Amino acid sequence: EKGGYEHFMLKEIFEQPRSILDSMRGRMIAESNHMMMAGIREFENKFVNADRILIVACGTSWHAGLVAEYLIEDLARIPVEVEYASEFRYRNPIITEKDIVIAISQSGETADTLAALELAKAKGATIFGICNVVGSSIARATDAGAYTHAGPEIGVASTKAFTAQVTVLTLIAMIIGSKRGTLETTKLHELMVELETIPAKVEQALKLNDQIVEIAEQYKDATNCIYLGRGYNFPVALEGALKLKEISYIHAEGYPAAEMKHGPIALIDEQMPVVVIATKDSSYEKIVSNVQEVKARKGKIIAIVTEGDTTIPAMADHVVEIPETSEHLMPLLSVIPLQLLSYHIAVMRGCNVDQPRNLAKSVTVE
Ligand code: F6R
Repeated sequence: EKGGYEHFMLKEIFEQPRSILDSMRGRMIAESNHMMMAGIREFENKFVNADRILIVACGTSWHAGLVAEYLIEDLARIPVEVEYASEFRYRNPIITEKDIVIAISQSGETADTLAALELAKAKGATIFGICNVVGSSIARATDAGAYTHAGPEIGVASTKAFTAQVTVLTLIAMIIGSKRGTLETTKLHELMVELETIPAKVEQALKLNDQIVEIAEQYKDATNCIYLGRGYNFPVALEGALKLKEISYIHAEGYPAAEMKHGPIALIDEQMPVVVIATKDSSYEKIVSNVQEVKARKGKIIAIVTEGDTTIPAMADHVVEIPETSEHLMPLLSVIPLQLLSYHIAVMRGCNVDQPRNLAKSVTVE
């Protein structure tokens, strides 16, 4: 059942070219510039005229929500707020009938996410669900939604569900953007064509596995680790850190790279591994300076860069090259080496990667 892999997590990481394809299947035809998603069509006017979109989720699904904030604001120009379901529901939030609330959940059973959407529903908001498990409680409680179609995720650490969520949210941002006229037809077409190349590029990123095993060897005994990213790669930094801490029990922090100088930089010394996601995008020049700041303090730099980059490799201790893509789609590629890194480090430390201590696959307690 693990398909020849040692753990479900590794199997699920390697399934991603397929699961990402499944999550976009039937939802777009780049050739004819056509996109369709039944759940969105039903509430198209609501989405097009929304004053704001609220996203509620927990854990990794919350990270997918953060990626969606960048996507929807950029492509569809609708203000987005991303909320931890557990904080949102207890603070007397302002919700109106004009709001659209997107609940993101792999299991569809997370108690806080379910309660948050029930609250928003009671206040008249339109609730849209993005779930992986068909017929789950959250899927049933929503007005409309889109399944991620990633297939069952058994490993407790979420991997393929995350990339499927991000894929579906990307499609949603593109659909709303094109309906609202904020995303021009040519740009939409470019993104569709690029999105179609993502499964093959993920396949290519998975070939980094052996190289990542070598990096993992060197850092398996670390006690701390920092992950930095900017823009679309900021949520990926958070996700990389979460993956490492939950399965290897190494303390890890994800930060927006520019925030480092407001505190965490004090942690950096020659013992500190710093994973920097520094792909070629609109914040590239800025992150180059952040890498210099880490280098000046002798931190060990593990850089995730775009193929062919020479600037960051000149400063980094380890360089992992991933294929080039639009910055809008980069999280789908940049998260892959981070999933692999945490997996190998956890295995080398003798941890139970599929069932880490203290964790459950669906968190049905509040
Ligand atoms: C991390 C992880 C958790 C879940 C969180 C939400 O790898 O698995 O952080 O992402 O418990 O779960 P769902 O998406 O099922 O609501």
